[in-house]
Amino acid sequence: MASEGAPAVGASVPTSGDAPAFDTSVAHVARVYNYWLGGKDNFAADRAAAEQAMAVYPDIALSARANRAFLRRVVTYLVSQAGIRQFLDIGTGIPSANNTHEVAQAIAPESRIVYVDNDPVVLAHARALLTSTPAGATDYIDADLRRTEQILAGAAGTLDFAQPVAIMLMAILQHLSDEDDPVGVVASLLAAVPAGSYLALSHPAKDIEAEKMKAMAERLNQMMAEKVTFRGQAEVAEFFTGLELVEPGMIRVQHWRPDTDEEANSPAALWGGVARKP
Ligand SMILES: C[S@@+](CC[C@H](N)C(=O)[O-])C[C@H]1O[C@@H](n2cnc3c(N)ncnc32)[C@H](O)[C@@H]1O
Repeated sequence: MASEGAPAVGASVPTSGDAPAFDTSVAHVARVYNYWLGGKDNFAADRAAAEQAMAVYPDIALSARANRAFLRRVVTYLVSQAGIRQFLDIGTGIPSANNTHEVAQAIAPESRIVYVDNDPVVLAHARALLTSTPAGATDYIDADLRRTEQILAGAAGTLDFAQPVAIMLMAILQHLSDEDDPVGVVASLLAAVPAGSYLALSHPAKDIEAEKMKAMAERLNQMMAEKVTFRGQAEVAEFFTGLELVEPGMIRVQHWRPDTDEEANSPAALWGGVARKP
């Protein structure tokens, strides 16, 4: 169990002497996304790619913020209304405002969260993700989403897979190509959790602002290390096959239980939803 300022035993957090080397010459999505969110953890190549995307889809920065707001509302719903106390948050990103454990533990301090990302910059920031309430726990696993067995084995040190778990895949599945079989990857994660567990995800859309999103994908795929495949509503709905979608269903993220009119009116070209494993 991790406590305030004390990383969980076994967490792969680099100390000051062994920080991983970053390739700063090529844009990486975690840092590009950080730039769109107004963060400072990015380099010239990341800012160039982020700006190129903004030139064809100026609402991308607001889209990123709407995605973070969706994440906050989803975690709030899962803890306060669905009774979830365990989260597997894959594709965590560089820590930002309202990280999953902060939202969950503010409501239920006993919540346990395992973060997973494959970017060395996120790993370097993992300490900020490992601050837990004494009653709960957080851990960080440096792993690729496609290595589901490694993720599940690592997460079992912190999460009890006999109890419901919320699997969070926020704005990550676009980095799996169709050849990576993203539907199969999600299904293998869901197979490891019991009935009463949840899947929560968001995914950039190819059928909202279609021309701008296509142009943005082309630019990002030229400049960014992680390639993107934006998907349409029917393709994203496939991830929820066999699950019970929570109201209002799979919908644009800004329309999923918005707290304010400002949130509801935010321009975001992402599909999102939350569903329960029966
Ligand atoms: C756009 S960010 C989303 C961050 C956060 N989930 C959110 O919604 O605010 C995508 C994150 O997924 C990570 N990522 C991309 N491909 C991945 C993979 N194959 N395995 C693990 N993490 C991956 C990136 O490093 C990045 O941190």
